[in-house]
Amino acid sequence: MTNEELNAIAKAEQESKERFEHEVCVCTAAGCLSAGGDKVKDALTGEIARQGKDKKCSVKGVGCLGLCAKGPLVAVESHGKKDKLYEGVTLEDVPAIVQTLEATETKGAAAAGLERSMDEPFFASQVKVVLENMGKIDPEHIEDYIAVGGYQTLYKALTEMSPTDVIGEVTKSGLRGRGGGGYPTGLKWSTVAKANGGATKYVICNADEGDPGAFMDRSVLEGDPHRVIEGMAIAAYAIGAHQGFIYVRAEYPLAIKTLKNAIRQAEKMGLLGKNICGTTFSFELHLRLGAGAFVTGEETALIASVEGRRGMPRPRPPYPAERGLWDCPTLINNVETFANIPAVIREGGVWFAAIGTEKSKGTKVFALAGSIVNTGLIEVPMGTRLRDIIFDIGGGIPEGRRYKAVQTGGPSGGCIPEQFLNMPVDYESLQQVGSIMGSGGMIVMDETSCMVDVARYFMEFCMSESCGKCTPCRVGTAQMYDILCKITEGHATLEDMDMLIELSDLVKNTSLCGLGQSAPNPVLSTLRYFKDEYMAHIVDKTCPAGVCKICSPAKEPVEVKS
Ligand SMILES: Cc1cc2nc3c(=O)[nH]c(=O)nc-3n(C[C@H](O)[C@H](O)[C@H](O)COP(=O)(O)O)c2cc1C
Ligand code: SF4
Ligand code: SF4
Ligand code: FES
Repeated sequence: MTNEELNAIAKAEQESKERFEHEVCVCTAAGCLSAGGDKVKDALTGEIARQGKDKKCSVKGVGCLGLCAKGPLVAVESHGKKDKLYEGVTLEDVPAIVQTLEATETKGAAAAGLERSMDEPFFASQVKVVLENMGKIDPEHIEDYIAVGGYQTLYKALTEMSPTDVIGEVTKSGLRGRGGGGYPTGLKWSTVAKANGGATKYVICNADEGDPGAFMDRSVLEGDPHRVIEGMAIAAYAIGAHQGFIYVRAEYPLAIKTLKNAIRQAEKMGLLGKNICGTTFSFELHLRLGAGAFVTGEETALIASVEGRRGMPRPRPPYPAERGLWDCPTLINNVETFANIPAVIREGGVWFAAIGTEKSKGTKVFALAGSIVNTGLIEVPMGTRLRDIIFDIGGGIPEGRRYKAVQTGGPSGGCIPEQFLNMPVDYESLQQVGSIMGSGGMIVMDETSCMVDVARYFMEFCMSESCGKCTPCRVGTAQMYDILCKITEGHATLEDMDMLIELSDLVKNTSLCGLGQSAPNPVLSTLRYFKDEYMAHIVDKTCPAGVCKICSPAKEPVEVKS
């Protein structure tokens, strides 16, 4: 595939698109699919033909449009411009939507109730880098990706840049790993590039995404798989690898299907495989499915799983950058990290570094969930205020309830109370308030949530997901869970609380991997900001939010007379 060929495909796609006045994009990502997005798409295709508009209107399936809880979503582009977005579309709504395509006000009125204004902060306040193609391209159709400039960046990297140039741009961008730790991506790439000159090297994409409530990586893979493949191929070129793996959890069947199709298409076009774009660079990409254990998202456990062993972490160092897959230097990055790469190389590191804050560059994709009006997928510049994310973009708390906290970072993170709503969301600020960025899950809680119960929930998760290799995590999380159960049941004493704090310290400081080391975080952050709720359960034997079923105090034993 030469640059001319890429351009020719892009031009042909563009021309075929321009033949239609209207393009109807139906979200067929997992959220909307479960609400019947595929049936709506078929019905729209049929209705457009029935109304004789198939010469003017085309229909296609696209990735997540963002407002996942309001699905199925349908977006209409007219004469190359975004025109309308319909939410909660049913089969009965289809004729009215098709009528609006030939826009006379009265004809379109029936569909107006479903229309969502594109001027709302949900759309207007987002900045899309990773999600720039989301909802615009058909993920099953590689030509659609090429039409928006896809694989041109890989071509540019392979033909105009040396591996060192590529790493230089990534370093300049200030991009940090989006898998949770925030490690500088350029530094990681240069470590792998320098490791063991001449040895076999590997690239791995971590698509394990185990945090409860998180769906960013799944959405990117379902909606724009070629972007991740292109990012991985650029990385492979930069570090000198010829084989890569995408480790994706088996519970993501749509992402797996989309990826398999995308890899096949890229291979067919010579964008993966031998002599990519007619150069000497070759790169093969394989899929590996995980069985859904949270711990296999940890890089050394993931590598063990790819090698066919049980997915258990091992001590680091050596880090995978030096000794990873089959003991070879291995670059392991998250889905979103790779999805940033085509933009970084296309626009340049300086462009990327201009977005975000001093130490947290670029944008971040978040999955908004919990007690929030606009449950869905968003992308904002690093440093955006928490308040703007939750109340402007997220639309605030439903039914006029009061905000209590937002949980970021999943089971490794913490709960952020109201007093910090004005804080910028970046790696450092989140850490300062006792939470972490994590991979991007944001679970919003209102006054009906009990924070002790929230801590109990996350501890149960860590206890169940502990791989059992080291004692502090295996036994400590179970002991902490027991104490949290005692508290929520109203049986705990103040000594139990002291023990909970002591165990938090022990589990945090002596566990082998990040799962155990961060398992106490939700407890510590709820203790820090919501201690009164713990006290209410322990001392007053009440649950202020009315969530926990506090058992009535034990009765005095009745003396039985013989
Ligand atoms: C228990 C545990 C689970 C993890 N799960 C994931 C995950 O699902 N996805 C991910 O990208 N990183 C996960 N990580 C972080 C990885 O170990 C690793 O740091 C990351 O994939 C590196 O990519 P990055 O530099 O692009 O962030 C997890 C870490 C731990 C300790
Ligand atoms: S007995 Fe316990 S430690 Fe040994 S293998 Fe089984 S689970 Fe693991
Ligand atoms: S900290 Fe937990 S999950 Fe990690 S190795 Fe130890 S037992 Fe396994
Ligand atoms: S899954 Fe359809 S909008 Fe997110």
